Amino acid sequence: MTEVLSRPVADGVQALVRQISEQAVVPMEESRALPAQAYWDPEFYAYELEHIWRKDWICVGRVEEVPEKGGYRSFDLAGEPLMMVRGADDRVRVFSRVCRHRYADLMGGERTPEERVSGCVQRFECPYHAWTYRLDGSLLSAPEMSSRPGFDKSANGLHEIRSEIWQGFVFINLDDDTDIPFDMRAIEALQDGYDFDEWEIASVIDWGESVVNWKIVIENFLECYHHIGIHKNVLQPLWRLGRVQRGDYFGSDYYFGRMMAGTEVAIGEEDGHLLHPLFLPAKTGLSAFQRSHTLLLAKFPAYLIAPGPDITFWFRSLPTGPETHRLEMHLMVPREHRGVPDFDEKMREATDFLRLVQTQDASVNEAVQRSTRSKFAEGGLLQAHEQPLWQLQKYLTTRLPLAD
Ligand code: FES
Ligand SMILES: [Fe+2]
Repeated sequence: MTEVLSRPVADGVQALVRQISEQAVVPMEESRALPAQAYWDPEFYAYELEHIWRKDWICVGRVEEVPEKGGYRSFDLAGEPLMMVRGADDRVRVFSRVCRHRYADLMGGERTPEERVSGCVQRFECPYHAWTYRLDGSLLSAPEMSSRPGFDKSANGLHEIRSEIWQGFVFINLDDDTDIPFDMRAIEALQDGYDFDEWEIASVIDWGESVVNWKIVIENFLECYHHIGIHKNVLQPLWRLGRVQRGDYFGSDYYFGRMMAGTEVAIGEEDGHLLHPLFLPAKTGLSAFQRSHTLLLAKFPAYLIAPGPDITFWFRSLPTGPETHRLEMHLMVPREHRGVPDFDEKMREATDFLRLVQTQDASVNEAVQRSTRSKFAEGGLLQAHEQPLWQLQKYLTTRLPLAD
């Protein structure tokens, strides 16, 4: 970890929230980067966990990650050990992995590292005292417990987490009483025609845990200003900064932009639109306009997606601490194109491309994280293409309450 803090910091979380809310209301032309403290302060992070990660709808997975009945995929969110499970009724549910007996992680014990993450089972057996749970979370058996007065199996099922499935994405909310509605209508309008029920994950890059605050990942994912910097030889030739269109502001929960293909890389022209280069055939049904660019889309804090005509990049980025997150990058393809010639080769190329881009992004993200501790770290002025950072600040302001 970094050296002892030497710069003065906001006096408590509330002062920091106030500072963010003040800078989020100024026009974009006057915006600045978030205060550096917001990227490392443990108390501020705890406040974010409470009011964002444990209260908002979080995109945690795709249904095809558990393709068969009994399939499970475990993950942690805001310190909660969880798992996504496909039941015998084919429904995908999300459960706490905490055993109802004495807290053991159902995926702990002698399971292999692979088994801890995913697999397919008939039932879940706790590694500690062998209580077993059905795929719908109900308790099936608790050895030697029948003689225990008052023991009621029906009251000892796994805790189910509120979830919503939308176009194959699994969203959860850790707060049963949240007042934030699950509402994807704005995203639906932007994604019209892509229909992610018809796509599936074809390749995954497991980037693991990095020493980078979760907000730095979002900022880096959404702003294209850095195409002329760290990506000058990789992305700038493909999506020139000058051809990036920033979408209108349409609410504090969202951002969208479009990375248009330029003349240098276009593979043709249709209805006045330069067509985006492809690894695979474009999804059928997309308009010429949709085939002219890659969308950049976010519903804060965890729906981060870049839908292209043939391949869509979806990031599962979840915080693991004030200065850390875990990242997996998914390449999704239209299911109809799974069998096209050279599919595996094309996916390898696309995956290598994304890995190279991420290697560059990780290098700057880690450098930014380290510097946020400096006594010289002051939020600088934002360039117009950094509009998503300003919008993220608005999101933080709507979610993080200010005391009177
Ligand atoms: S802790 Fe799970 S069976 Fe005892
Ligand atoms: Fe990048």
